Formats: sequence, structure tokens, C-alpha cells
Amino acid sequence: MKRAVMIIVAFAAAALITVAAQAEGQGEQIFKQKCSMCHSVKGKGGTMGPELTAISARMKEKDLREQLENPKKANPKSSMPSYKTLAKADMNALLGYLKTLK
Ligand code: HEC
Repeated sequence: MKRAVMIIVAFAAAALITVAAQAEGQGEQIFKQKCSMCHSVKGKGGTMGPELTAISARMKEKDLREQLENPKKANPKSSMPSYKTLAKADMNALLGYLKTLK
């Protein structure tokens, strides 16, 4: 019985890790498609916006979400587009990716 529980726990942990890894991969994909023309990470990407290699060391998730949904709030003249219409799952994946940058 104990062994069965251990096996179930191991499977559940493996499944969680897979889901987390997929979300991270998806966030990175979205970043490459929508953000990297203006922002660079680890030396790759555009230069119109600030470099984001360590963005999570500077900004909390709440502020990142705010910046993505309403860039004009922090800077009324911002040339960054709003990503308010991004699907919730995509926004979460993107924030998950940004959180790994610190
Ligand atoms: C058209 C160019 C452009 C695109 C596309 C763009 N940004 Fe920006 N972004 C900017 C600029 C310019 C700034 C500088 C502040 C401002 O003007 O709002 C900025 C600021 C930021 C900041 C704040 C950085 C800081 O140091 O304060 C974050 C975080 C950010 N962008 C993330 C993203 C993400 C994530 C995406 C993709 C979903 C994205 N941006 C897409 C141009 C862009």
C-alpha cells in the first residue's frame, strides 16, 4: 500500500513538472512572437524597448501584468502596444516566462 502511494506521488510530481515546463516553453514562444522585436533577452532581440534579461528582479508579477495590459499607465507616450486582448492562458504563460528572467 505504501509503495502504491509513493508511485502515485511520483507520477503526480512528474506530471506537474511537465505542465510547468510546457507553460514556460509556451511563454517563451509568445515572447519571441510578440515582444522580441522590441525587447532583447540575453543579447537576442530588438532595442526599441528596454532589455528584459533580468526583468523579474526589477518588476513584480502584478506590475508586469499592468505594463502588458496598459503600457500607457506607466508612460502615457508609450509606444508599446497593449496586450489586454491576449488569451488568459497565453498571458499567464508569458508572465510565467518573464518570472524566470531574473
Ligand atoms: C513596439 C515595441 C514594443 C513591443 C512589441 C513590446 N514592447 Fe515592451 N516596451 C516597449 C518600450 C518602448 C518600453 C519602454 C517604456 C514605455 O515606453 O512604455 C517597454 C517597456 C516594457 C516593460 C517595462 C520595462 C522596464 O524596465 O520598465 C516590460 C516589462 C515590457 N515592455 C514587456 C513587454 C512584453 C512582455 C512584450 C510582449 C508581450 C512587449 N513588451 C512588447 C516597446 C515594446
